[in-house]
Amino acid sequence: MPDPGPFILHNGSVIVESSWPKPDRDAQKHSERLIAHLRLQIDAADGWMSFADFMRETLYAPGLGYYSAGADKFGEAGDFITAPEISSLFGHCVAAQCAGILEHVGGDTIVEAGAGSGALAADIISEFPPKKYRIVEVSADLRARQQSRIKPEDVAADVDWLNGPEEIDAFNGVIIGNEVIDALPVERFRITANGVDAVGVVWNGAAFSSITRPAEETLIAAVREVEEQMGRSLPPGYCSEIRPQLAAFIAEWASKLQRGAMIWIDYGCSRAEYYASDRDQGTLMCHYRHRAHDDPFMYPGLQDITAWVDFSALAQAGTSAGLTLSGYATQAHFLLGCGIDQRYDAMRREAEDESRVLELNEQLRRLMMPGEMGERFRVMALTSGLDHDLIGFSFRDLSATL
Ligand SMILES: C[S@@+](CC[C@H](N)C(=O)[O-])C[C@H]1O[C@@H](n2cnc3c(N)ncnc32)[C@H](O)[C@@H]1O
Repeated sequence: MPDPGPFILHNGSVIVESSWPKPDRDAQKHSERLIAHLRLQIDAADGWMSFADFMRETLYAPGLGYYSAGADKFGEAGDFITAPEISSLFGHCVAAQCAGILEHVGGDTIVEAGAGSGALAADIISEFPPKKYRIVEVSADLRARQQSRIKPEDVAADVDWLNGPEEIDAFNGVIIGNEVIDALPVERFRITANGVDAVGVVWNGAAFSSITRPAEETLIAAVREVEEQMGRSLPPGYCSEIRPQLAAFIAEWASKLQRGAMIWIDYGCSRAEYYASDRDQGTLMCHYRHRAHDDPFMYPGLQDITAWVDFSALAQAGTSAGLTLSGYATQAHFLLGCGIDQRYDAMRREAEDESRVLELNEQLRRLMMPGEMGERFRVMALTSGLDHDLIGFSFRDLSATL
């Protein structure tokens, strides 16, 4: 195959639909401060920044990044809506799964990674208060929002906040994260006739743009490992992402789990689906005011940047860290296994009027339907010292497809 040649994925020009809401002056100024910060970083790195570094800084630079600074992100007024924000049906089901695990391992602690607005934490705590509920949150802004929603003096659980897993002693219990792994930085790559290029970020004098250069050994090795595990090569021109931090992230969490489970919920699929031949531009997605698009350079600091989760890589990271893959299911099947239908019936019986019933129906639809979150979102349990089946995977377990 001929080398497809140098390739610029994005020209950096901001093409925004005229109907899209424009950021106000303060938001624009905030974005400009982040752009100035990113440009300094790019200059310091000789003009080329890896995409993972760009994503990390854009989302998490202290006081500047999308997650670190103050804009509304979650819910109708923000940029996207997550399952716990849609309905407490979700939190009640996750709580049922957590309660079962705690009972089996004689644990009393749930640790939530990246709690966002605090909706899932609030629902789990109100459903069955575990003795301890610990939230690991890297964003100071989100931590403040969570603390105004969950006031330790008002809830039955002992709640606290931590900066990272390094602050936790090993425990028996559950680690849970909804839409956290998709927010971990990814490297972007492009296959060439001669090897693998990294897709990095440059400042072109007016805007950020993507540009390729030959990848370093670690990225090449990671791409080759993906190909080896799939038993096929990716063709020249194929672009996608890989999450270099994933194995270390899971290993660190695994070192904290004596007996119990980690449950990760996110949009994603198996490796074979992730790197399918027709998905040749990767899965990178940006969210700005409920609009999804693929330009990571639009409004830096004002939009979310994510990529799907390769659940085969997640399972592999777990087993390499000494955990057992104990279940992998679509969100719909997981929620059914956790009894969402019974919970829905109970809430419907309690509904005060028809409008509440309609609201519940809409919530159920969004969580469960294949065209909504039901199939695109997957749930994976990685366990340690747990010899019981988990209810969330009793309906259907897709582990064999990974
Ligand atoms: C898309 S939001 C999801 C929030 C929430 N779990 C929900 O479902 O609404 C991603 C969250 O992951 C957090 N996060 C990102 N990197 C993290 C890390 N390394 N450890 C813990 N949390 C992280 C972010 O700060 C944010 O709270």
